Amino acid sequence: MNGIKIKGTGQCLPQRVVTNEDLARIVETNDEWITTRTGIQRRHHISGEETIAGLSAAAARQALENAGITADQIGACIVATLTPDTLVPSAACCLQRELGLPNDIPCFDLNAACTGFLYALHTMECLLNAAPRKFGLVVGAEHLSRITNWQDRGTCILFGDGAAAVVVECREGWPSIGAVLGSHGDDQLLRVPGVEQDERSLIYMEGTKVFKFAIEAAPWCMDRVLEKVGKTVDDVDFFVFHQANARIIDLVVRRYHIPPEKYYKNIQEYGNTSAASIPLVLSDLVRLGKVGSGSRVLIVGFGGGLTWGGAYVEFE
Ligand code: COA
Repeated sequence: MNGIKIKGTGQCLPQRVVTNEDLARIVETNDEWITTRTGIQRRHHISGEETIAGLSAAAARQALENAGITADQIGACIVATLTPDTLVPSAACCLQRELGLPNDIPCFDLNAACTGFLYALHTMECLLNAAPRKFGLVVGAEHLSRITNWQDRGTCILFGDGAAAVVVECREGWPSIGAVLGSHGDDQLLRVPGVEQDERSLIYMEGTKVFKFAIEAAPWCMDRVLEKVGKTVDDVDFFVFHQANARIIDLVVRRYHIPPEKYYKNIQEYGNTSAASIPLVLSDLVRLGKVGSGSRVLIVGFGGGLTWGGAYVEFE
């Protein structure tokens, strides 16, 4: 299989910023608890006229410009999300309309919770191998504030909204990103009821148990990906982690002796944005000049489902 590389990135965050102090006015919590237990200081929440379609389109336009390609060159579009504006049309079809993507390409949403972007990246690699156009658009976008339980202090402090996009290219001879994906059906630890349920569609999570799952899943993914692509930790220029809790990242980097200049946290600014979290890290890294042409990143994610995944991706 021919591999994909990242050619461009973009992001768009909602205008409204919600601080820990703002949340302390809604639930029994405080800035000190949230900061020390999670690393989160603020997050963005969708308000007013903002939508997933609008944020995704802005992020995607930036990614196309950054990649130096036009909408008509895109061969497939996937939006990783669990909170599209509408179930039908999908967020990807809304994006297709907004951007004027070609009609003869697949556009669809993918829900693998916080691992959604990694699932989408792997799916895109497979799709582009069979597509006539060799550029793909992968977006992670979430409106989690809409499904947040504002009475549950254990979860409402965690989540944020936002969108980020990458344009990838698939070329003959490029190695595969070596994605490793897995899941374990579990509706006890982390769930959001769907349209058929009596309960309101709000996030329920047993945080401590999910935390334990995450600190086992992340190293497992890292080891499997490196084994699959025949690389070692030293071959990686930058480690990109799903931003669920700063303590999870701290534990993993300590275990692998990863120096501070090789990983990055933006959870303090954005909170946990589920499927948008990993592309938000990627676009921040590009914006800050921490990664660029030739950089090799190891991406690791985990989340509801339960799901997990990893991939070794190069920037073109
Ligand atoms: N403010 C103040 N106190 C809070 C609080 C808040 N926002 N939320 C919970 N607490 C309290 C609890 O009630 C509990 O009090 P008690 O000891 O008197 O019973 C205490 O703090 C500890 O709660 P606990 O839930 O055990 O905390 P924790 O250290 O596990 O942290 C999470 C909670 C959610 C931050 C953490 O478990 C986590 O990040 N989990 C993983 C999330 C994740 O990875 N998700 C991935 C998929 S999205």
